[in-house]
Amino acid sequence: MSTVLITGGLGFIGSHLAHRIAAESKVVIVDNISTGRRENVQPHSDITVYEGDITDNEMLTYLFTTYEFDYIYHLAAIASVAESVERPHETLETNFKATVSLLEHARNQKHPVKRFVFASSAAVFGDEKTLPKTEFSPVKPLTPYAIDKLASEQYVLAYNALYGLNTSAVRFFNVYGMRQNPESPYSGVISILTKAFSTEEQGRFTVYGNGNQTRDFVFIKDVIDALVLIAHHEKSKGEVYNIGTGQETSLNELIGQYQDITGNTIETMYEEPRQGDIHASVAGIEKLRKLGFEPRYNVYEGLTAYWKNY
Ligand code: NAD
Ligand code: UD1
Repeated sequence: MSTVLITGGLGFIGSHLAHRIAAESKVVIVDNISTGRRENVQPHSDITVYEGDITDNEMLTYLFTTYEFDYIYHLAAIASVAESVERPHETLETNFKATVSLLEHARNQKHPVKRFVFASSAAVFGDEKTLPKTEFSPVKPLTPYAIDKLASEQYVLAYNALYGLNTSAVRFFNVYGMRQNPESPYSGVISILTKAFSTEEQGRFTVYGNGNQTRDFVFIKDVIDALVLIAHHEKSKGEVYNIGTGQETSLNELIGQYQDITGNTIETMYEEPRQGDIHASVAGIEKLRKLGFEPRYNVYEGLTAYWKNY
């Protein structure tokens, strides 16, 4: 049985990953419960949760002396771009420096780590206009969040080249699904929309801009498939991968499809676009396809599955 560390394992993506791999692995989670929640992970004999901060080196030393990890999925981060703009220094500590600390611990572990997978973001592309965004597209990080993600992912890849540590980085596009927290105005748009479509919110939703902005919305189950595939594939060592569907959907299309799925209507208000909002985004996923990945859910299917479970 492999021993797997998931940083940020009580969060949205981390909790899905923990549940997926717990049957065949011993899962260790470290999470400071800032945006994550204890109840995101069901009690399970193969999952151990440590409430702790990845910026605390003593905590990391404890973990790496207590366990020998086969796989490390490093997902813990201040995941809100807006928060990174408010608090650039704190963001740097968690989103960048702690990544390097984790890499150091992984490098010094006696038993070689089979794979260290780092969660980067499509935010590294910024408002660079080339579409689709491939792994070869220019990067233009515009916020502390994006700068830290890009710097971290470059460190992650350099640890492969310099020290032979088995690493990979992934750039998530717009991930959605069960347990994504809708509570902040900067929460993922589908989580906010889902809340609006449920009766408790009286169906009000604000579109920032004209709704023609596009995103590559990727369902959580496809994301977990891709993460596990990358972690286990020989060819992905020292490589970065986009994780998306390759399909572009506008916000207006999304609302229309959700209306169709739920049979509910919502009151939609249009306001000024958010400052710095990206007009169009879609992932090129040929590199990931070459590893054998094919998304199983288009937006309609993903929304249907999400709605059924909501
Ligand atoms: P999330 O906020 O649900 O999960 C992040 C987890 O990290 C939370 O459980 C939080 O409590 C924990 N955490 C934060 N700071 C920590 C610290 N200092 N020490 C320990 N734990 C800490 O977000 P998510 O959507 O699950 O995102 C997971 C990763 O994927 C993040 O790195 C995020 O930047 C990245 N990402 C997500 C998306 C998306 O669409 N959801 C897109 C691009 C990148
Ligand atoms: C998202 C991620 C970000 C990641 C980036 C990579 C979230 C919360 N953010 O940002 O971490 O780095 O993708 O591509 O997942 N919108 C509305 N009304 C709302 C909320 C949002 O109109 O109530 C609009 C936004 O202005 C934007 C679109 O919906 O145009 C998508 O917004 P959001 O889900 O926040 O994602 P990104 O901005 O793409």
